[in-house]
Amino acid sequence: MASAVTTPAPALDKPLMHYGKRTLDRLAPGAEQPGYRLLDVCPLTPHIGAEIEGVDLSGPIGDGLAQELRQALLEWKVLFFRDQHAFAPQSQLAFSALWGEPEPNPFFPKGDSVGVSRLAKDAMAIGSENIWHSDHSFMAAPALGSVLRAVEVPAAGGDTMWADMAAAYDNLTDALKARIDGLTAVHDWVPSWGALMTASQIAAHRENLPAVEHPVVVRHPRTGRKLLYVNEPFTTRIVGLSGPESRELLGELVLQARIPEYQVRFRWQPGSVAVWDNIATQHYAISDYFPQRRVMERIAIAGVPLS
Ligand code: SIN
Repeated sequence: MASAVTTPAPALDKPLMHYGKRTLDRLAPGAEQPGYRLLDVCPLTPHIGAEIEGVDLSGPIGDGLAQELRQALLEWKVLFFRDQHAFAPQSQLAFSALWGEPEPNPFFPKGDSVGVSRLAKDAMAIGSENIWHSDHSFMAAPALGSVLRAVEVPAAGGDTMWADMAAAYDNLTDALKARIDGLTAVHDWVPSWGALMTASQIAAHRENLPAVEHPVVVRHPRTGRKLLYVNEPFTTRIVGLSGPESRELLGELVLQARIPEYQVRFRWQPGSVAVWDNIATQHYAISDYFPQRRVMERIAIAGVPLS
């Protein structure tokens, strides 16, 4: 017979994660609730992610609709559209132009002449985007957003998740907010993308892509809202801290994207399209479908330096 366990579990010095009530505000403080006349908004959570109905993205998008789509993206941070089967690369380019210029990823294979990157994941036992990240944060002016289209999806699996980095900031303790106020961090592609390259390939890319610094807490370029802006693959250290201090603080900050209340999860179907605010969110592509195929096409939207 097994004897009763009498030794109590050792107490943690400090909880690994805060639990309890979360502050989950969809809009920046003081922002007015927008109204929509030309599209239907179906929220997937109370504060991040909405499916948009009643819109055909393959045709011309008039000024009124464009204005509502931009407003909806600022409000919901990720917009999803279903059954956009006629949304070819040209429409993807025109749609992304509602927000800005296309920005090719320097490391993705180029899918076609208009600059859409084709991400085909059929031969990978482990994924390459199954880590919480913000696209192109290693650039001096990181991408403002991205538009992703599902071309071929597995029968099950291959979902993508997004995390609301305004919620991540809002829920930090006051002491942690004070500690990170005014800090900057280095973002660099070498530890992640560089791990797949030879030394001479790294040297060739390095000329155009030096390591850059961004504030740890940025203001959203359109709403002015405070956002936690560090991510696991690209943020390498916090400026002015010792190695151990930087690792400890970064370790705590990058974990925030993993908190379920900040997240939305999307199940792709052929013809699904997502556009996301890449400064206000991080995302994670779930790599659970090998050996099935998953083919996506992505355009990133050029951004501005962050402050
Ligand atoms: C990405 O990380 O930009 C791609 C996301 C995905 O394939 O779901």
